[in-house]
Amino acid sequence: MLRHMLDINGASALVTGGASGLGEATVRALGEQGAKVVIMDLEHQADKAEKILEDVEGAFMPTDVTDVDQVIAAVEKAKELGPVRALVNSAGIGWATRTIGKDGEYSSAHDLTVFRKVLEVNLVGTFNCIRLAATAMSGSDPDEFGERSAIVNTASVAALEGQIGQAAYSASKAGIVGMTLTIARDLAAVGVRVNTIIPGLFDTPIYGQGEASEQFKERLSVGCLFPSVSVLPRSTRRWPPS
Ligand SMILES: NC(=O)c1ccc[n+]([C@@H]2O[C@H](COP(=O)([O-])OP(=O)(O)OC[C@H]3O[C@@H](n4cnc5c(N)ncnc54)[C@H](O)[C@@H]3O)[C@@H](O)[C@H]2O)c1
Repeated sequence: MLRHMLDINGASALVTGGASGLGEATVRALGEQGAKVVIMDLEHQADKAEKILEDVEGAFMPTDVTDVDQVIAAVEKAKELGPVRALVNSAGIGWATRTIGKDGEYSSAHDLTVFRKVLEVNLVGTFNCIRLAATAMSGSDPDEFGERSAIVNTASVAALEGQIGQAAYSASKAGIVGMTLTIARDLAAVGVRVNTIIPGLFDTPIYGQGEASEQFKERLSVGCLFPSVSVLPRSTRRWPPS
């Protein structure tokens, strides 16, 4: 069987949401393999990003994944650092709200602004980064196998088994799953691989802080069969580990 691994040593990589959680872990993993990493995250995450860049070669580009000009600027920065060989879409938001309220009033139904915002960031933002990064990737030289780059998107188990209050989040993640194969077919022509991961639960700042957040996480973890989150020591549940 042919074994081939994309060589990212000395190349550049883009990571959205790269200042926190899964994105941060990805930035560090890519850096360990010799990639120069452009962290694309919101401006208020600048301090966290700069701290990561003490350990990883690359740059922070303040980027809202839904903003065309900011994404192009980040992609251009990556091109300056080396051929763009990877994009990992990790930026994401969640918002727990039930479809209807408890009082029977129309005004208590799920806020459409919230629904649109979650789709805009998670689904439209992911596609925006793919289409612009892939445009830059298509102009780079392929390796001996004809491969130019790889793209990894982050969906969620909620795409397949959303829980109560996750209508917007589940829809956005199911959208990512749904578009993956189509985009993979589109980009195969230029030697760019496209995959989507569907993680289960892991403890990151996405769940917020405080008592309500702890209760929400406990409720979600009830669905974890084995190993159950409650049997894991607290220090192993969170990224970065405490
Ligand atoms: N934590 C989990 O249990 C879990 C499970 C399944 C999937 N996921 C997905 O994994 C991905 C990473 O989540 P995490 O848990 O590491 O969360 P996190 O909150 O630690 O990281 C998300 C990052 O995305 C950034 N971000 C938010 N909106 C953005 C925008 N518009 N533009 C650019 N950056 C933006 C945030 O600033 C943050 O740095 C998300 O897509 C999330 O939906 C998480």
